[in-house]
Amino acid sequence: MPIAGQDKRMADTERHPFLHGLSKHRGAPPTVVVIFGASGDLCARKLMPAIYNLGVDGLLPADFYLLGFGRKEIPDEEFRAHTAAAIKEFSRRELTEDVWSRLKARTFYVSGGYDEPAAFDRLAARIAGLEKGIGQELQTLFYISTPPSVFAPILANLGTSGLAARYVRKPNQSKVIIEKPFGRDLPSARALNHQMTSVFEEPQVYRIDHYLGKETVQDLLVQRFANAIFEPLWNRNYVDHVQITVAEEVGVGTRAGYYEQSGCLRDMIQNHAMQLLALTAMEAPVNLSAESIRDEKVKLLKAIQPFKLEGPNADLARAQYSEGFIGGQPASGYMQEKDISPTSSTESYAALRFNINNWRWHGVPFYLRSGKRMARRVSEIAIRFKGAPGALFAGSDKFALANNTLAFQIQPDEGMSLVLNAKIPGLETRTQPVKMNFKYSTTFGSNTAEAYERLVLDAMVGDSTLFIRGDETESSWALVTPILEYWKSKGRDGLDDYPVGSWGPKNSDALLVANGHVWREP
Ligand code: BG6
Repeated sequence: MPIAGQDKRMADTERHPFLHGLSKHRGAPPTVVVIFGASGDLCARKLMPAIYNLGVDGLLPADFYLLGFGRKEIPDEEFRAHTAAAIKEFSRRELTEDVWSRLKARTFYVSGGYDEPAAFDRLAARIAGLEKGIGQELQTLFYISTPPSVFAPILANLGTSGLAARYVRKPNQSKVIIEKPFGRDLPSARALNHQMTSVFEEPQVYRIDHYLGKETVQDLLVQRFANAIFEPLWNRNYVDHVQITVAEEVGVGTRAGYYEQSGCLRDMIQNHAMQLLALTAMEAPVNLSAESIRDEKVKLLKAIQPFKLEGPNADLARAQYSEGFIGGQPASGYMQEKDISPTSSTESYAALRFNINNWRWHGVPFYLRSGKRMARRVSEIAIRFKGAPGALFAGSDKFALANNTLAFQIQPDEGMSLVLNAKIPGLETRTQPVKMNFKYSTTFGSNTAEAYERLVLDAMVGDSTLFIRGDETESSWALVTPILEYWKSKGRDGLDDYPVGSWGPKNSDALLVANGHVWREP
């Protein structure tokens, strides 16, 4: 006997090819994504390929539209050509005529200034025109992918044009995704939050941290809370310390204009690395809802002690890369890069020691480091456990032993490893540390969705679990703002250096030495 609901879904699928493969659970309503900063780099590298790949997977709603908005005058046809070129260059899957021809027909461009109210009226009229064409309302997803200097006028105009508030009684119908940097210190983050929430309701706001879209970062929660073996050990009784590394091989490149105003603490630590810390250290949420998970992250951030800024016990180190070799090639130092101020004190590397003052973690240091132009691109979280009591295997050079270390490799080469001590095969008992390895690519294959695919889809369907809540961003800015102010007051004083292609500066070793620890080589 035919099932009524099933018949309808089949009929919809035929009418709307994008519906094919769309599960009911992940279904987004008819949507128009409006991208501010549509001719920018991020849009070309990440957003357009993400939207295209959602199309390939049949995850775009049947009535889906893409509207670019920017200052340049660009005819629709030219914007479509630009979009196709971006997909060809950056998508993980090839551009196929089948999907692209459907997406192309739904791609448009509206030009205008971000501070020009009339341009937002034109945008509103264009959206109204699309709605009229299909005879129903569209969910509008505004994606702010511009430099922060124009966040304010965009938000103001979304407010006054009625675009943000027009569905205010149905908050799921109008949403805004905002790219980093979300503020540059606590006062500016507060001001931006205030501005956002005077135009949108908090549940309509999706603050992006693309690290949360990475598969391995999401897997952290699964590993921690879907396996019974970790939780009993996940505390001060068994964990000696934790090291979180987010190392990059790339340098500042052509981004000096942005990076000089930012530096590593703002660019990588306040957001990406501290998110990894929060997910590693937080308590189990009561359920998997966005609010429960974010409540736990905020609680954890609030338990972090203020940093000791100076003295022999300081919790911080910063440095700039100096000339060296990477991949056998000579590479210039930070100060020699294009457009860097001759007096620049911007750090390309930062390391911090976090002390978390709660029952679980009291006395367990969490070390975080991130830098550009380091030995290799690798992001990992390493939990180093305390040593086994030495009663049996000690006191002889036959017993080489290491502390157990569980490492989550976030990227590249996604996986997990566990260092254990094992007997070396042979007629006498000798021991050696060995490594158990799990690789995602071996088990699950390697062509997985990119972070932005997951994040754009989540925003479309209204799941904010992987986005940062307003109080969360303020809590992390509250922690790092004193450091920013302190470093600013010091200029280049105390700024160390590290050769390109190395694992970082000497002054960051000092953070660990006090506790008898050393940085591991990931
Ligand atoms: C961005 C930073 O947020 O993250 C960049 O602005 C950095 O400076 C990038 O290179 C790193 O992201 P990923 O995904 O390549 O590790």
